[in-house]
Amino acid sequence: MTQLQRVKISALGTYLPPRVLTNADLEKMVDTTNEWIMSRVGIRERHIADKGVAASDLAVEAVKNLVASHPFDLQEVDLIVLGTVTPDMMYPSTACLVQHKLGIANTWGFDVSAGCSGFLYALNTGVKFVEAGRYKKVLVIGSDVNSSMTDYTDRAVCIIFGDGAGAVLLEPAEDGDVGVIDHVAQIEGVGGQFLYMPGGGSLNPATHETVDQKMHYIHQDGKSVFKYAVKKMAEMTERILAKNNLTGKDVDCFIAHQANLRIITATAERLGMPMEKVIINIDRYGNTTAGTIPIAMQTALEEGKLKKGDMVLVAAVGAGFTSGATLLRWAY
Ligand code: COA
Repeated sequence: MTQLQRVKISALGTYLPPRVLTNADLEKMVDTTNEWIMSRVGIRERHIADKGVAASDLAVEAVKNLVASHPFDLQEVDLIVLGTVTPDMMYPSTACLVQHKLGIANTWGFDVSAGCSGFLYALNTGVKFVEAGRYKKVLVIGSDVNSSMTDYTDRAVCIIFGDGAGAVLLEPAEDGDVGVIDHVAQIEGVGGQFLYMPGGGSLNPATHETVDQKMHYIHQDGKSVFKYAVKKMAEMTERILAKNNLTGKDVDCFIAHQANLRIITATAERLGMPMEKVIINIDRYGNTTAGTIPIAMQTALEEGKLKKGDMVLVAAVGAGFTSGATLLRWAY
């Protein structure tokens, strides 16, 4: 087999819409309390996009922030892979809309639908194209406007989700000591019944009835999702560490999908990882679906918890069910 090109994340940009929805705001909207939300989920506030702001808009801002922190010519982008479950429309893909808005003349791209694993699946897909040696610059984006499918009368759901986006640039790693090392992933479609949006697709196209029956909102069996996420987050992280002859002690930074603080801490405990190596920002942003992982990478950089050469473990579980973990050495 020909030697694969090592691939690095060379830049990162994120975007959170400015409007903030606090637990105090939610207390006025549904029968809930700040104490309940903090103790059960760990969220204090989340950012919400204004009406008319779509996933492509958040994605474009994230890419602009990426370019601001790491100037390069966007025209060099070979491929855009975008994870989302809240595309602007059923079609065209949000990747196409982002390409057009950014004016990247000669590229291609597509969306990845993998729920809260969307960014991780998009990342692993993008990595393959650079790894194979033919692509030099791939934009991987996770962007979700969860507020567009959230029922703000459903207290078990509306407290969880927020809106946000993040983008990374993948490039060949000249320095073989940094970059993506490995990934594992698994889908288990039996989980589709626990977290889904029934309306708007080919099964239940939009009608007055689908609207009346609230079929265009997130439907969630929280307990089943929680149990699966705790089990699978542990399984995926343990699997990738064992596959690479590593243990939790070898990891410098653990970046998990931010769905519930209790899921993240349970995984960290199981891996024997001290909490100072675990990135937590769910309190500020909630669950932004495909946005959480790049946004958590940004938090890690800002908090000085991520530096060149660090062994980073990334993991996600999401609707589908989808799950995965990626191991990489941070490149800058
Ligand atoms: N405020 C106050 N009470 C609430 C509430 C809220 N926002 N939401 C639910 N409750 C109530 C329930 O109605 C229930 O009341 P009951 O005992 O009188 O029936 C009680 O709290 C316990 O509900 P339960 O669903 O058992 O709570 P939980 O501890 O499982 O927490 C979730 C609920 C949704 C926070 C939790 O299950 C979870 O985080 N699941 C995973 C969701 C997720 O991560 N989704 C994205 C996947 S990537």
